[in-house]
Amino acid sequence: MKKGKKLYEGKAKIIFASAEKNLVIQHFKDDATAFNNQKKANIEGKGILNNRISEHILSALKDVGIENHLIKRLNMREQLIDLAEIIPIEFIVRNIVTGSLTKRLGIEEGTILNKPLIEFCYKNDQLGDPLVSREHIDVFGWATLSELNLITDQCLRINDFLQGMFRGINIKLIDFKLEFGKRKSDGKIILADEISPDTCRLWDADTDKKLDKDRFRKDLGDVVEAYQEVARRLGILHEQVSNVRPIKFPKPTAVKIKKK
Ligand code: TMP
Repeated sequence: MKKGKKLYEGKAKIIFASAEKNLVIQHFKDDATAFNNQKKANIEGKGILNNRISEHILSALKDVGIENHLIKRLNMREQLIDLAEIIPIEFIVRNIVTGSLTKRLGIEEGTILNKPLIEFCYKNDQLGDPLVSREHIDVFGWATLSELNLITDQCLRINDFLQGMFRGINIKLIDFKLEFGKRKSDGKIILADEISPDTCRLWDADTDKKLDKDRFRKDLGDVVEAYQEVARRLGILHEQVSNVRPIKFPKPTAVKIKKK
């Protein structure tokens, strides 16, 4: 697939034009940022792993009927995706309390929520991605209320699916961020962006070891090794990904099935 001109560059990805109408190429960089771009680093191999992990997850979601922008992975760092107008809202889904929810409301870290919590944040680095309400989204025209209902319904379905998928590889899905957009070809609202250890909190189910971008945010080290471990457990760690650096993690223990 011939790559056209750069259309947009974000913190972790670049969007290029493609030869196909209404399709674009999403390129995964190794750049990592945190705290609204205040902390920056280049983590060798991260983009390759996120490309592969996100492809795996979005394909699996498509198989269970959750439409999304992924057409196909093109190479180690790139995917062909639907061109979509991204809604400027980060949809955060939480199962266990941590991160900004603990900071903002003082709810104890590790509290298990009795049902998933969805939060809306306005995508604006300068303002620090502030929390907004359904009413802000409606009044400022970022999405209609019926679009929002559809999106929140999808967020819960995605959460159910991902929780099950990660449970099967002994990982707890603590929380994650989703983005949605209006597909250029037909105007339909679809899941977009990426789902990867950059956008999820993933803890080993036995040890609570962090296997996600919090390793970078909190200077815990072994960032790429953690992403590799997620890819390995998902069964998608192929040679070109595994030769980024050696894995230091021990073998995961088998999933325990409780007897009734
Ligand atoms: P938070 O606790 O910092 O609000 O993060 C909630 C979840 O959203 C967590 O899984 C990390 C993810 N996230 C992003 O993907 N991008 C962001 O810009 C932020 C702030 C969080």
